[in-house]
Amino acid sequence: MFSKETYIERRAALAASLREKGENGLVLFVGNAEACAQLKAECYRFRQDSSWLYYFGLDEPYLAATIDLESGAETLFADDVDEDDVIWIGPQPSAAERAALAGLKSFAPARSLDAVVDKALAAGRKVLFLPPSRNYNILRLMELLHISKEEASKGTLSLIEEVIKMRLVKTEEEIALIDAACDLGYEMHSVGRDLLRPGVVEGDIVDRMDFIATSKGWGVSFATIFTQHGEIFHNPSHDKIIEPGRMVVVDAGVEAKTHYCSDFTRTYPSGGKFTPKQKEIYEIALAAHEKAFSMTAPGIAYRDVHLAAEAVILSGLASVGIVNGDIDEMVADGIGGLFLPHGLGHNMGLDVHDMEDLGEDYVGYDPDQKRAPRLGLGSLRMARRLKPGNVITDEPGVYFNVGLIEKWRREGKGSGRINYALLEKEYYDFGGIRIEDDVLVTPTAARRLGSRRLPVTPSEIEDLMSR
Ligand code: GLY
Ligand code: MN
Repeated sequence: MFSKETYIERRAALAASLREKGENGLVLFVGNAEACAQLKAECYRFRQDSSWLYYFGLDEPYLAATIDLESGAETLFADDVDEDDVIWIGPQPSAAERAALAGLKSFAPARSLDAVVDKALAAGRKVLFLPPSRNYNILRLMELLHISKEEASKGTLSLIEEVIKMRLVKTEEEIALIDAACDLGYEMHSVGRDLLRPGVVEGDIVDRMDFIATSKGWGVSFATIFTQHGEIFHNPSHDKIIEPGRMVVVDAGVEAKTHYCSDFTRTYPSGGKFTPKQKEIYEIALAAHEKAFSMTAPGIAYRDVHLAAEAVILSGLASVGIVNGDIDEMVADGIGGLFLPHGLGHNMGLDVHDMEDLGEDYVGYDPDQKRAPRLGLGSLRMARRLKPGNVITDEPGVYFNVGLIEKWRREGKGSGRINYALLEKEYYDFGGIRIEDDVLVTPTAARRLGSRRLPVTPSEIEDLMSR
């Protein structure tokens, strides 16, 4: 965790911005609890809530805290481990030590929180809280605040907005940790690429990649995607044998021990050399990726960057005869969504999709922006105007999803503009391509995170894979 001053400053800034908004109640934070896998004594690995980590840093279960906006008092609610627990889990920091680490002057037993909240409610004070993603936290809020599940799941908008505002802009000390997570992500990807060849079972490579994440970091930042069917986004199984002549989409990241994440995607030819057709489409995806990065700068809406990436993809596809028509009109009519049915990117930080538990639209959309309903743009998780300190992913792709293409064809969508006969003849067994880097918005433009960029051009990739 950072030094206590970081957490003191963050909480003070949060309290000040809430007071500025006219709030004067009690801000309540509930950290995560253990989640049982099967038995009470057999839990999943503990993962702390990310907003809790941001404001308190303490990485143990069953913690809560309040910030009193009126008096400024901050209290940690935590229990010392009892003597029985010490037998099983060994000595643990006391509640007093934990409070000191997070720069909290006062602490109290966990159960005393109920009375504190009751007193605030009885005095007619507002209690502000974040929407939890875990059921335990929802239940605890229902119990503490005497509210319904729906209310407990919703959270308090003013708090959500201020937390998002702060966490969206990464500080220098956070950026250093994200760079370090990206360096581990680089290593994880390099191991996978070096093992990739026809005849190997996908899962054997995934295990070796994931070992980098678990041995050098906290773990993977999401379940590793390693697939010869890149057109299916979150393909969960890794049981296939690598076949010659395919492309393999490798989308993987490390969550470092600090909990900051990385998230990279590369697409490799299974045998180390792209076919001319694969290379042709790969260059289109790469051009979209480079276009997106070249536009990434403060003030530009990431939604416009997504649309520009779509335009590059459509003009590339026009040059190979897959679509035809005016590019801007095709973008406006949503034709790009057939080939790029996901968004260009998302925020990244303590979560790989940063803060999406607080509400995807609150995180990714400025108040005057509305999420478009159409394919592709409708899945865009980050549309906001960029600010220095934003950390985002840049992950366009080109996909040929047969089920989706057939659906559009049946519905007559894009007829006259989409060459369905060519798609059927040439691209139904193609798969998909995605290329993803992690990007920091700087005061003037952007830089890619991590000290080295994963090889990305066809020649860089073929060169490395031929060794
Ligand atoms: N890299 C996985 C995702 O962004 O969903
Ligand atoms: Mn991603």
